[in-house]
Amino acid sequence: MKKDIAIIGLGLIGGSLAKALRESDASLEIAAADSDQNALANALAEGVVGRVGALAEVCAGANLVVVAVPPLAAPAVLAEIARCAGPETLITDVASVKSHLLETLASLPAGFRSRFVPGHPLAGSEQSGYGAARAELFRGRNVVLAPLEETAPEAIAKMHDLWRGVGANVLAMSPERHDRILALTSHLPHVLAFAMAGLPPRRENGAGVHHYAASGFADFTRLAASDPALWSDILRANAGATVAALDAFGEDLKQFRNALATGDWPALGDNLQRARRARGAFDLARGGGETAGDAGGERCFHVRPGGAIRPGGIRVPGDKSISHRAIMLGALADGVSRVSGFLEGEDALHTLAAFRELGVTIVGPEDGCLRIYGAGANGLKAPRGPLWLGNSGTAMRLLAGVLAGQGFASELRGDESLSQRPMNRIVKPLADMGAVISADGGRPPLRISGGRLRGIDYAMPVASAQVKSCLLLAGLFAEGMTTVREPGPCRDHTERMLRGFGVELDTGSRQGMTSLVGGQALRACDIDIPGDISSAAFFLVAAAISPGASLTLEQVGVNPTRTGVIEILRQMGADIRLRNPRESGGEPVADIEVRQKPLHGVEIGAEQVALAIDEFPILLVAAACAEGETRISGAGELRVKESDRIEAMAEGLGILGIEHETFPDGIRVTGGELGGGIIDSRGDHRIAMAFAIAALRCRQAVTIRNCANVATSFPGFAALARQMGLGISEADADS
Ligand code: S3P
Repeated sequence: MKKDIAIIGLGLIGGSLAKALRESDASLEIAAADSDQNALANALAEGVVGRVGALAEVCAGANLVVVAVPPLAAPAVLAEIARCAGPETLITDVASVKSHLLETLASLPAGFRSRFVPGHPLAGSEQSGYGAARAELFRGRNVVLAPLEETAPEAIAKMHDLWRGVGANVLAMSPERHDRILALTSHLPHVLAFAMAGLPPRRENGAGVHHYAASGFADFTRLAASDPALWSDILRANAGATVAALDAFGEDLKQFRNALATGDWPALGDNLQRARRARGAFDLARGGGETAGDAGGERCFHVRPGGAIRPGGIRVPGDKSISHRAIMLGALADGVSRVSGFLEGEDALHTLAAFRELGVTIVGPEDGCLRIYGAGANGLKAPRGPLWLGNSGTAMRLLAGVLAGQGFASELRGDESLSQRPMNRIVKPLADMGAVISADGGRPPLRISGGRLRGIDYAMPVASAQVKSCLLLAGLFAEGMTTVREPGPCRDHTERMLRGFGVELDTGSRQGMTSLVGGQALRACDIDIPGDISSAAFFLVAAAISPGASLTLEQVGVNPTRTGVIEILRQMGADIRLRNPRESGGEPVADIEVRQKPLHGVEIGAEQVALAIDEFPILLVAAACAEGETRISGAGELRVKESDRIEAMAEGLGILGIEHETFPDGIRVTGGELGGGIIDSRGDHRIAMAFAIAALRCRQAVTIRNCANVATSFPGFAALARQMGLGISEADADS
């Protein structure tokens, strides 16, 4: 963006931005207005700004005006800018409160609103004023854009570039959510620090008491050294949300008080443990893209034996496969895509974070809704470091396809489990397409140097939707036609969604063959993501094995390439019906009704495996509760999932006393009485959830270790399971 920038307010944030912009580009014309003449004189003397003057003077002719005044002053300043800035001028602000601007903005011309990009760099400190400003303030810090519905995508893209250019990570959310979150994470802590700073001398008569206050008091009250005038402004501007945060805090505080007042030491201990865990998760998230689940997790499920599934209807979270793809295709499209039903699980959130780092503005998620401002097929930016994909094989393999076709280098990394998973299945065909890509020993990290791709005709050795999708996505950037042949059907969400985005695919000529020609543009579209049948499967089986149960799973995706679990359970004798079938965003959806009936063992062959690939852990629990023997073959792929699922299930079933035998490509299980015991999920979300459900039919309690990764695909699983009648509780392994 060129070239003339006006900064209104040369305090810590405005001054730092001026310095950072000056450092990044000596030719920029930066002008500033401020009531503090010293700040202006210093900035002029340092060559940080080239011109100072009144607001109207500095705004005239500016391409960009940055409003960096305290929040309560911002509405009037915006109104004045609307009067004096040119019709093309882009306007942004840096205020730490957003919704109080909305009323003023509503009264300004629509043209102004479309050029206004609300922003907030989370880079303040207890220091203030131009004297504290420094060019590197924003490096590695988060900046939140809070665009209005009317804000033009081009304006958002320009502001994204500007903040990225000074080293910041760009997040985005609605103004309202921004204010709710900031009330909790910033405004409430400031109120507490201000309230706390004066408490000891007030209660103990005099400042002498400070001699007895050490680093705990100093750390806690650091924020009370902040500028009172600025903070009065911020708190007044966000009074409603801050009061709500104070009320919530009051409730939490009451728990501590009650525990202390009544001598309820276990409750006190629980509260402290929970808080420490939350603080640990915060440290992890701040240290890199990692989350609690990435840490491998010392979370345990304790499940009481027995219990019964309550009758009724439930919804499970959005489909993981479709959520990943919605981000990817939305990011590559021209225009704004709106997504609802997005899975706010760690895997899909890693994909979202990766695309933000690739320069895409994504607003949300907020109640499962996203607004993706597509960068266009050639608009991704080079990432500034390795992209962290946690536990997610789908994210890594699909993203590799996208990145192989870019003109920049990238590196993809994951957690311990993902770092063990085979990547040659994509590295080899991508290299055949001309990609420069490597994986040490065929495992992550993946290093991609980008390059010119050409289409290939590739017959996959295994029926893998991840490989197919990776190659089709790479094919978008390849010269000529890319064809992928599958040895057997596997999930086709990528193909369906590509069509939704206006890409022409050829699947007509032969079953199991998909072709596309590179260079096609994607057109933004809206996507409503159904519930994930792989998550629903846990409750399908729970109801199928729980005496007298009758349950409806609402609004679940029933794409025929995913419904193997329903077919297999029906073969086992389960009573499952699909109600209210409909289509949503190119995907079939239905309510799934299940009633308990006695199950019997079955033979499952290779042709059924890909259609239920993620459901075998829970299907094996059904097999353990069934009469007779179940045998699965042709399922060697289960050994290279988040864990070796054949061995992980065999070990757990063995602990529960179930007779079984494993083979290189499968397992045989004989149904019987289930005992109890301690089972290691090996950090695999689906193994953890499967054994939690098994407890419904166990005679003794079941403890499942290493459960933190359940958050990768099914956040809230334990709470929903509890609500449905399982005696499940979560705890730290050491508690
Ligand atoms: C997925 C494909 C499957 C599945 C995974 C999600 C996808 O993997 O196990 O959980 O979204 O494409 P494979 O393609 O390796 O079978």
